[in-house]
Amino acid sequence: MAQQNIVWHETTIKKEERQERNGHRSAILWFTGLSGAGKSTLANALEQQLFKQGKNSYVLDGDNVRHGLNKGLGFSDNDRKENIRRIGEVAKLFVDSGTLVCTAFISPFKEDRNRVRDLVEDGEFIEVYVRCSLEACEERDPKGLYKKARAGEIPEFTGISSPYEEPDAPEIIIDSDKQTVEASVETIIAYLKEKNIL
Ligand code: PPS
Repeated sequence: MAQQNIVWHETTIKKEERQERNGHRSAILWFTGLSGAGKSTLANALEQQLFKQGKNSYVLDGDNVRHGLNKGLGFSDNDRKENIRRIGEVAKLFVDSGTLVCTAFISPFKEDRNRVRDLVEDGEFIEVYVRCSLEACEERDPKGLYKKARAGEIPEFTGISSPYEEPDAPEIIIDSDKQTVEASVETIIAYLKEKNIL
């Protein structure tokens, strides 16, 4: 019903033309992991390298997107699902624009991440699992949120009172409590080169 009288309109300039002009393919680098695992740090460090190399790149970050586009969404399972659905659609637009988009969201549910994977073409969704034990994340506690969650001040906190489903077959795993940020960025860039994205 909601789609009535809405007709898809093909754009004149195609993704392939944009990619050709940029000199690289576009893709979603989907960083997933617990709060404090280092998703934003890695996404930003990667983007810095890509930007320096003259690539077309952009970062979409959980905290920032929740200030604007997804303002009003909370952390219930349903709100997280809607959060990821919207980000997935936005990320798809970035891919169409010829951009390497780095997204940093907890995205705790497999089904939601896989739905984003299905939105784009094969090879365009690169799941980067930023793996870090709950203990290490809690130790870091960069925003003091784990402390609050343990004190019962934040309901449905990922890893404490809300689940995190690990990816089954992510394209890349970064053990952020063992690898440096620089080495992790190198791993990701090597993957992009191997797949002829860069
Ligand atoms: S999700 O699950 O993908 O929809 O979450 P996301 O949009 O990435 O937002 C996560 C950031 O929100 C802060 N925050 C919480 N995280 C988890 N659970 C609860 N209940 C919560 N409340 C606030 C927190 O700063 C997360 O940021 P990161 O960067 O992951 O630490």
